[in-house]
Amino acid sequence: MEIAGLRLLVVGATGVIGGAVAALAAERGAHLAVAGRDPARLAAVSQALGGCPNSRFDAYDLAGCAALARRAAGALGGLDAVLTAFGTVAFGRAEEGSDAVDEHLLTVNALAPIAVLRGALGVLPAGGAMAALTGAVVSAPMAGLAGYAASKAALSAWLDTVRLEQHRHRRTVLDARPPHLDTGFAGRAVAGTAPRLPAGADLPAYVAALLDGLCSGAALLAADGANRPVLSG
Ligand SMILES: NC(=O)c1ccc[n+]([C@@H]2O[C@H](COP(=O)([O-])OP(=O)(O)OC[C@H]3O[C@@H](n4cnc5c(N)ncnc54)[C@H](OP(=O)(O)O)[C@@H]3O)[C@@H](O)[C@H]2O)c1
Repeated sequence: MEIAGLRLLVVGATGVIGGAVAALAAERGAHLAVAGRDPARLAAVSQALGGCPNSRFDAYDLAGCAALARRAAGALGGLDAVLTAFGTVAFGRAEEGSDAVDEHLLTVNALAPIAVLRGALGVLPAGGAMAALTGAVVSAPMAGLAGYAASKAALSAWLDTVRLEQHRHRRTVLDARPPHLDTGFAGRAVAGTAPRLPAGADLPAYVAALLDGLCSGAALLAADGANRPVLSG
């Protein structure tokens, strides 16, 4: 798919990664619709993108999540691609966690993006693309992140299955698994405190790779041995 003219919905455009992908896509000629939780940040993102269509949502409103793609398609006259870029994290060893925190992680990081993307399946044309941010933690476990890893692995497994199912409809599904990026995400944990993290990988490089992967129909965005983005599939 060409980026110029692409009708793209970014859900979680109020976040650092989602906002950067939306901005780069718009710069390259895509037509954006954005969704976010925080009303002030959402209004600012939409305004910065020329007043593009925007929708408020919360991960706990799964029916609202499922309706986002149809709403964006209505506003843009169709929809070619969707990215979920929202999520949350909690730190602490498994025995220090709680059912409430795990439930929160699984809702925000798995059930809600699944609802958004399931909704998109009813809207995207043949040749359409979907992508979700999971994370390197799916393939490289890290102590203190059991609940977060479980939620991201659940989303990743869903993406793998849907990729198989959608092959005959020529819809592509990208699992984006960046390593740590300096977005401040770890500092906004809902529980626990982040350990000392390594220096973040190259954020603009991952943002550009995510957009390239979405347009080229890649299945996986991961890091190579030098923490640079690699697309495959
Ligand atoms: N940063 C990293 O190192 C890294 C690495 C791998 C994967 N990821 C993944 O990338 C995604 C984006 O992270 P980021 O670094 O851009 O962090 P960020 O700037 O903190 O963005 C988080 C986003 O999630 C949204 N959000 C949080 N809770 C929500 C809820 N209950 N309902 C709806 N939206 C909610 C926020 O919405 P509001 O701002 O509107 O409240 C914001 O748009 C996350 O899924 C994260 O797991 C990040």
